[in-house]
Amino acid sequence: MACAFALNPQLPDTTLNVVPLPHRKLTESRESLPDPVAPELIGSERQKVSPPSVMQNWSAVFGASPDHVRVTDELQALLCRQEKNSGSGVPYHWQRPPPTVTKIDSEPPQLPPLDVLDPPAPLHPEQPTRGAGAPDIGPEDRPTRTRKTIAGRSMGTSVVAEVSASRSTKSMRHRKPDLGIPGPGKGRVPKEVSNRPGRLRDASRPPVGACRVRRPDPAPPVAWPPMRRTTLVSPLLPALLLAAACRSLATSERPPVVRDIHSFAEPNRVRVEHVDLDLELDFQAREARGTAELGLARIDGDAPLVVDTHDLEILGVYGSDGKARKWSLGPGAERLGRPLTIQLEEDDERVRIAYHTTASSEAMQWLEPEQTAGGRRPFLFTQGQAILTRSWIPLQDSPGVRVTWSAHVRCPEDLTVVMSAERQGRDPEGNWRFRMDRAVPPYLIAMACGDLEFRAISQRCGVWAEPGVAMAARAELEDTESMVAAAEKLFGPYRWGRYDLLILPPSFPYGGMENPTLTFATPTILAGDKSLVALVAHELAHSWSGNLVTNATWSDFWLNEGFTVYCENRIMEVLYGPERAATERVLEIGELEDEMKTLEPWQQVLHTNLAGHHPDDGFSGVPYTKGALLLTRLEQVVGRERWDAFLRGWFDGHAFRSVTTADFLAYLEAQLGSEIGSVDLVAWTEQPGLPADAPRPKTASLTAVDAEVASYARGSAPGELATQGWTTQQWLRFLRGLPDTLTSEQMAALDQAFGFTRSGNSEILCQWLELSIRHRYAVADPELERFLHDVGRRKFLKPLYTALMETDPGRGKKLYEENRARYHSVSVATLDGIVRKSG
Ligand code: BES
Ligand code: ZN
Repeated sequence: MACAFALNPQLPDTTLNVVPLPHRKLTESRESLPDPVAPELIGSERQKVSPPSVMQNWSAVFGASPDHVRVTDELQALLCRQEKNSGSGVPYHWQRPPPTVTKIDSEPPQLPPLDVLDPPAPLHPEQPTRGAGAPDIGPEDRPTRTRKTIAGRSMGTSVVAEVSASRSTKSMRHRKPDLGIPGPGKGRVPKEVSNRPGRLRDASRPPVGACRVRRPDPAPPVAWPPMRRTTLVSPLLPALLLAAACRSLATSERPPVVRDIHSFAEPNRVRVEHVDLDLELDFQAREARGTAELGLARIDGDAPLVVDTHDLEILGVYGSDGKARKWSLGPGAERLGRPLTIQLEEDDERVRIAYHTTASSEAMQWLEPEQTAGGRRPFLFTQGQAILTRSWIPLQDSPGVRVTWSAHVRCPEDLTVVMSAERQGRDPEGNWRFRMDRAVPPYLIAMACGDLEFRAISQRCGVWAEPGVAMAARAELEDTESMVAAAEKLFGPYRWGRYDLLILPPSFPYGGMENPTLTFATPTILAGDKSLVALVAHELAHSWSGNLVTNATWSDFWLNEGFTVYCENRIMEVLYGPERAATERVLEIGELEDEMKTLEPWQQVLHTNLAGHHPDDGFSGVPYTKGALLLTRLEQVVGRERWDAFLRGWFDGHAFRSVTTADFLAYLEAQLGSEIGSVDLVAWTEQPGLPADAPRPKTASLTAVDAEVASYARGSAPGELATQGWTTQQWLRFLRGLPDTLTSEQMAALDQAFGFTRSGNSEILCQWLELSIRHRYAVADPELERFLHDVGRRKFLKPLYTALMETDPGRGKKLYEENRARYHSVSVATLDGIVRKSG
């Protein structure tokens, strides 16, 4: 069933499609909740509903009835304003069938190439320092290539493939999708005796003595023609020359890559500097297949190329002359994948790897149509951070190895491909084409494919979303351009061309992911009142902290997230005022303090030692909030003016570079050393806990909430509390502050007074559902089950399943097993540890 909401035609974006998910009929969801409002809204009834952006939130995205949405005062005001404007007396009404949604701006306008807009900043004179244990880089490691043959070198790995060099030729680019690549099941690499799964080992040292298996050549019986030197063709010669000049500058100064224990690659011997993807998306087989062509810097001319792979089926490897090369897949390590070692010929500046992804490729989530808002077409998205890119692209998957890249992607005709790069339209063969001229860490290469439309916000900002969601998404995110402008004022020019957002289906495991030019975001931020847009400020801020200046290893993750939380807050302050910004911060600190109690000491350290751990094991509020608090502390000490100049210098001086904690501390010492003596940087970065000088902001709005919580604890009835006009952040503080001894009767009274079970705000609802589990408030059960079915965001699922396992493990297990297949591998990895850990 599809419904449309018509608003005052004088206002922009006044019509939207509401397409409930097929698995949730309106009547069904209404039955499960008390006090429904009829969908035919006329006359005085309209006062009971909220404006469409709110309604569309849960209705279109989650399939719940639009009347299950609470009305905020702000929205009531908007409703009345629109009614006044329309003059019709009936500002909103349902219509069936829905009018066709006009596709506004179905493609975002193209901006000039990045290099024209904004040439790379000059390299900072300081080179990143090598982390402890980094291999020594001698003068012979500089980019002057030594030219020696590699024939006869031992592979030293467990699976050896030999490939014949005499093959017939076949055009590589613009070929038909069928590459002669075996379909699913064909040409599989035999399972090798793995090197003892379990704890992660030091990835830079492959184990010895692994079993050697010879297997037949799995490569397609072709030789690829010699590869092009560059695939970046543009009529804008001056821009290309500038880009080339910048590139060769970078090449001549190619700094060593810091050792990364989560990558098998050896980038200080042969480094991947450019990736050209040519992929076909097969939704039937749930596979991406095609080739990745890697542009190489041969630092050690004798060395093989080593790239990371994880659950990829490698079909063949070809050198610059198009002929096959010897390759082997080494033994794997749990959750790190396997090294692919390629024996290079003397003149190989590029290699092409033919491969396909598999059902186990963790980065990719292939969604059934019923997991989307539209319910009619399938959807695919990738998630690269931290070390998942290797499960859909064979490359050197370390944040210290930056690559430029391009892609040609084919998909079913009725779907649209978007990627984290400049869009270049489609070629006559139907390839969606993209290119990224800025060197990015591999975890930032991202793709999505589905029934998508584009809505412009400004000349350089817009939203991609499913048609039923796009209009509400645009309304919710309309402040994005102002955020970019504010961020530019604070941190320097935005260097990525466009800033668009993609609203994904609700199974997306994160709140947001800062993929360059195109932030990926969960639909659960669409609250209808902009109350959750701090997430946009956060992902946008990564355009400086993270994407421009990147953590060199996952032990330096706080440099990405701590800086970003700090910068996000500065953007929020400009847009929504100091009180709102401080409120968000106080809430985060409260959460961190609670979480710290559950973390092991090593997890409480900013500069984490991840030896033996997956990067995800270090994921917590520590890199985020403790990291931001350190920067706030430094700002306090030196004053905002000095601090802002420092920040700007940090971003400009390290632009398009990957940096370590040591780099940051050295730069800090060089710039502000004489002024920050009172800050114990060792305690902040290397020791657990929150140092005593951590800033502890207070805000009037949350202090007021605390007073009401105290009053409730003393026996006041919910209706007696002064909650008028509370913001989302205040409600969150209230819910978190409630006594943990609530009875289900008290829960019912709170629900009666404030309608939490019907909240259209995902953060409030999740907090309430957790309380409902813990206090056995069964009225919320249908909503809980719906939420666990529809939403795959790990941040929400983790506390809910934890609460279930602590109070009713049988139910927790049952619900998890029912829904597990719907969740992304990132969420599954965490939830398996909560739900399945006891066997
Ligand atoms: N880059 C992160 C998401 C991430 C971190 C993915 C580590 C994989 C590994 C993103 O910027 C982020 O922090 N997202 C947060 C939202 C933010 C407002 C705190 C999230 O998803 O909850
Ligand atoms: Zn982040």
